[in-house]
Amino acid sequence: MKILIKGKKQLSGSVKISGAKNAALPELAAVILSSGDLEFSDVPQVEDIKVMFRALENLGAAGEFTDSRIKIKLPEIRSNLVPREIVETSRASILILGPLLARSGYAEVSNPGGCPIGDRRINFHLDGLSKMGAKIETGAEHIIARADTPLQGIDYRFPGKTVTGTENLLMAAALARGTTILRNCALEPEIGDLIDLLQKMGADISGKNSDTLIIKGKPILDGARHKIIPDRIEMGTYVIAGALPGNEITVENAVPAYIRSLLDILKKIGVHLIEDEDKITVKANGPLFPTDLETEPYPGFPTDLQAQLTTLLTQVEGISRVKERIFNNRFKHALELNKLGANIEIKEDTAIIKGKTGFKGRVITATDLRASAALVLGGLIASGETLVENAYQLLRGYEDMPRKLRRLGADIKFLGVENE
Ligand code: EPU
Repeated sequence: MKILIKGKKQLSGSVKISGAKNAALPELAAVILSSGDLEFSDVPQVEDIKVMFRALENLGAAGEFTDSRIKIKLPEIRSNLVPREIVETSRASILILGPLLARSGYAEVSNPGGCPIGDRRINFHLDGLSKMGAKIETGAEHIIARADTPLQGIDYRFPGKTVTGTENLLMAAALARGTTILRNCALEPEIGDLIDLLQKMGADISGKNSDTLIIKGKPILDGARHKIIPDRIEMGTYVIAGALPGNEITVENAVPAYIRSLLDILKKIGVHLIEDEDKITVKANGPLFPTDLETEPYPGFPTDLQAQLTTLLTQVEGISRVKERIFNNRFKHALELNKLGANIEIKEDTAIIKGKTGFKGRVITATDLRASAALVLGGLIASGETLVENAYQLLRGYEDMPRKLRRLGADIKFLGVENE
């Protein structure tokens, strides 16, 4: 699958942000904690979510996924397996591990896939679940976890920040016996949204928005209705698109607080921003200045916006440095951006970007989800045609991106995707 972009078109107008993929994923896994009816709205229609939906159906869930709504119910677990062919492209299996183990005492899940952005360790997930009483075997392909008696509440301190690790143990604790205290939890807004959902389902959780969560386990949770928060990475990606030369974009259904670290950097480098409660208007009307930054856990600058911001920094006069502190192999976009004309050198964990350089369209390859967005932004500013290969990556996490960009004036289309 490929994306064809004819660059150098000015973008203007409004774009509406979809629901958050990384909130929807754990929230769908939370379906396993209940035998009641669950209904989600603002679900992004992206491949990673379809994968999670299929994995739940495979466990015995009955549901429907239409437009941006999912209705689903899992009255009884019919299978304890999460097979490789369903989940190999996503992190769904690891998020299912904790809830499935907690509900049924046995889970056999394929090793998680997802973006090849470095070592994606899961030792804290497994350590926490073992301390709750599970016996865990890990193999080249599968993780098998069993608990002959219900999981027990624990007092656990995460040795490092982990987003899905926090979500996994939080969900397992919701059905564990007694009280669990989780310390040094990650603080991403998607975790807060998961807590909101679990509370609606009847879970007893305190400490939302702090790094210590206290969970009193229940035998089973109820059904609930839940609207998923807007996707802060999609939000940040369109804000960055608005800051590219000549563009002016209003990002709607935005939550400026979720991307404060990005907005602060953009202001610092000279991008003009107008913030309202739920929208952000962005344009670059004047010279931009280079900067140095590091990726960090929330509320720091997100690794998931590192590639897209790098594309913008190639258009800024001077030397910028971007240090990647979350994943150890997340610069594959740099090589592809260099093919378009960028001057990016990678030294260990830092990208050194020498701007400003003109871009010329070429054939380039998307290596992971966020890299694919960075390459699309690169294609938008390149002269001539850019063909992005392996564009399936974009479908995994960005709802309707070509269509949304076309409405802003871009000339971009998927090749080989019907009705895109
Ligand atoms: N880590 C460990 N041990 C663990 C867990 C994590 O050492 O048990 C390390 C990882 O190796 C990594 C760091 O901690 O170096 C952070 O990993 P984390 O567990 O926080 O990442 P994740 O939960 O696998 C989620 C998002 C990613 C996002 C990261 C960081 C989901 C489904 N995925 O991944 O999103 O980059 O947090 O914010 O929520 C994306 O959407 O494109 C994406 C990759």
